[in-house]
Amino acid sequence: MKTMLNIALPKGRLGEKVYAMFEKAGFPCPSIKENNRKLIFENEECGVRYFWVKPSDVAIYVERGAADIGVAGKDILLEYEPDIYELLDLGLGKCRMAVAAKADFRDDTRKTLRVATKFTNIASAYYRSKGRDIDIIHLNGSIEIAPILGLSDVIVDIVETGTTLKENNLLVYDTIVPISARLIANKTSYKFKGSEIDQILRSMAAQMEESK
Ligand code: PRP
Repeated sequence: MKTMLNIALPKGRLGEKVYAMFEKAGFPCPSIKENNRKLIFENEECGVRYFWVKPSDVAIYVERGAADIGVAGKDILLEYEPDIYELLDLGLGKCRMAVAAKADFRDDTRKTLRVATKFTNIASAYYRSKGRDIDIIHLNGSIEIAPILGLSDVIVDIVETGTTLKENNLLVYDTIVPISARLIANKTSYKFKGSEIDQILRSMAAQMEESK
């Protein structure tokens, strides 16, 4: 029996782009385009099984070996530090992790800074590196509301186009780190399915060169 390569794709537009890259790399699975409710697709002939998962969950599937490889955002890799191999920066889904606040915000260093974010580890590490005392407020979404309602002084969040900040009258104060999508692999899978994974890695690197 042929070994199957299990690939976790981030659900959404980024995932569709990424699937096209896997297809070009020699792992097509045409049925994936036919059904938008099903979550698992298989092409036994090519030895590949794809599944759509929430983008922030891809690294969990890969770390635990439910997926051999997948594509995850650098934000998730920095926040959760999963024990995986980061193989390639795909240059897709580009955005940045930033500190934002209301236009009239002035940092009063005598006070503990209240920081609202989904990314508590990234935010803590950033302010630790600056020696700034903070009080982390963990939120699950709509972070931009926090400074407006006085729940926090600043937010640490993803900024892509900047529209969400603008619409809520917030300004970027600092960029913490640029973010993009990464091809990641389970460490054991990389040992045992290395030739297939390397084929994908090489093809994706070549596809990126071509599109430059
Ligand atoms: C992210 C982020 C911002 C928004 C930034 O949220 O949290 O709210 O995108 O994008 P922009 O700069 O292009 O406006 P996302 O849509 O990923 O959903 P979330 O609220 O679940 O984080």
